[in-house]
Amino acid sequence: MCGIIGYTGGSQVLPKLFCGLESLEYRGYDSAGIAFYDTKAGMLCLKEKGRVSEIRTLAAGYERDMGRKIDAHCGIGHTRWATHGKPSDLNSHPHCTSDVSLVHNGIIENYAALREELSRRGYRFLSETDTEAAANLIDYYYKQTEDPISAIRAAIREIRGSYAFGILFHDRPSMIYAVRKDSPLILASGEDGNYIASDIPAILKYTDQYYRLEEGEIATVSPALITVYRDGGASFTPEYEKITWSVDAAEKEGFPHFMLKEIHEEPRAVRDTLSSVLSSDIEAFFAENEFDTINIVACGTAMHAGLIGKFMTEKLARIPVNVYIASEFRYQDPILGSRDLVILISQSGETADTIAALRLAKERGAHTLAVVNVIGSTVAREADRMILTLAGPEISVASTKAYSSQITVMYVISIKLAELRGRLSPGEANALLEELGSKVPAAIEEVIGQKEKIRLLAGEFLQCPSVFFIGRGLDCLLASEGSLKLKEITYIHSEAYAAGEMKHGTISLITDGTPVIALATDKKLFEKTLSNIKEVKTRGAKVILVCPDADHADPSVCDFRIGLPALNESYAPFTAIAALQLLAYYTAVLRGCDVDRPRNLAKSVTVE
Ligand code: G6P
Repeated sequence: MCGIIGYTGGSQVLPKLFCGLESLEYRGYDSAGIAFYDTKAGMLCLKEKGRVSEIRTLAAGYERDMGRKIDAHCGIGHTRWATHGKPSDLNSHPHCTSDVSLVHNGIIENYAALREELSRRGYRFLSETDTEAAANLIDYYYKQTEDPISAIRAAIREIRGSYAFGILFHDRPSMIYAVRKDSPLILASGEDGNYIASDIPAILKYTDQYYRLEEGEIATVSPALITVYRDGGASFTPEYEKITWSVDAAEKEGFPHFMLKEIHEEPRAVRDTLSSVLSSDIEAFFAENEFDTINIVACGTAMHAGLIGKFMTEKLARIPVNVYIASEFRYQDPILGSRDLVILISQSGETADTIAALRLAKERGAHTLAVVNVIGSTVAREADRMILTLAGPEISVASTKAYSSQITVMYVISIKLAELRGRLSPGEANALLEELGSKVPAAIEEVIGQKEKIRLLAGEFLQCPSVFFIGRGLDCLLASEGSLKLKEITYIHSEAYAAGEMKHGTISLITDGTPVIALATDKKLFEKTLSNIKEVKTRGAKVILVCPDADHADPSVCDFRIGLPALNESYAPFTAIAALQLLAYYTAVLRGCDVDRPRNLAKSVTVE
């Protein structure tokens, strides 16, 4: 949630800040701002409600008024997803005091008490944010100590909550300071200077050398040197890791939106993730450990991937699996101990609720296994074991290829467990894996090949107030993900329902022309789903049937059809979801929505 970038070095800072912020806008985009040290005017801050492009305009206006170019080589920037205080100019970051400018990701839980105390000490608050309390607190201690590290250290002793801070002290014009707790921050070293950032895409254009700041470490970043200070310990120059993503992977490569590009990457993501999981030691891990329970914990789309994992593991391996929404995990007071496994699924590895669930599971002595897309993320580092999904960077807020990669891991786990339990012979298990690696990617490609047809279908939704997704078995789980995709990017209300459950209440909402997307990928359940389709059809629903062999489906049961390639039925989620993602995508485009940055959402939710 929220994006941070900072640069100090030989180059002009503004282009770096704008470019970094634009690549971080998926983390939050309701306001943006920058603070930098102009060689003539001193410390300046430009911030506003709105997108990064508006800050660019603001800077251009400033240059016009001054009749000269801004000349600055050190600065910080922020793009915000509002938590405390509505999106507004004043609530935007950086928050600046007389001595300090600060950008913040996270939430300061005791901000009210801090504000009260600081007000008593004479500080005036201009915004409604929690962040301003941190800026003033650091300012307060800086005035006492005149030493940035001591001031930061004193302040973070009093701050409760999560934070990644990028800080400028106004009398140290070429230095950036950084500290973090429960919110990610990286330091990066480039040829023409050094950087701080909340995520890799912000610095990818400039360097591939980065260091993930650890909890509680404080960093000083000068044009030539990055130094890290541990509490009570010695300072050191970090050892950098190499970023393996290519710049292209974080760019649109000619696609109009990241979402469309990322859907096109699904076949590759499935193939790569399959190799990643097969080359991990997951089989040995399951062979060595017998678990009483398997629990999957995640949020959003990742949680929907977990539901597929439960379905397949129960079906193939006959092992019961619990799936929890991460934000609800702790309230269920889960019964966990050393014979239980908790699998955390997370694209970013930074989702606050998933991290909290992981920590609770560890506290209770359970084994923890992370299925994550970002190596070095908090979930990846804190879990006992990790399987890396190789989706590559996912920029669009609506998750697509990460879901395909996550379910790839879920299938492999279910197949391996079934083999270990003797429910699948090695030959059967290998055949299933073989199909996953070859036929599934080809089938997804076939669905993507129908995108023009799906685009035309999308026109059917434009004016609809509400859409229903129905299905049975695996299709019922897919319906949830299809519905989530549609609502998050098109703002059309939608619901997913078990096809057989509609008649117990929800069918009352079906009126003339209500779109119902009926998923019927399982031949064994087809007849029953068909009865449910007829129930809604006779009440006026406009039915879009998604099933294999759609061309042979009885035309009287549906208004439109999306045909899926023939494939082992268990693998239908890969193809059906690609179709539903494309449907949501084109509907959003036709409605003029900001596809990659839907309103009120953020890619990585680092607050609970
Ligand atoms: C946000 C994103 C979703 C994502 C969820 C979990 O809500 O918009 O696309 O599924 O977070 O994120 P994670 O990074 O943990 O998979």
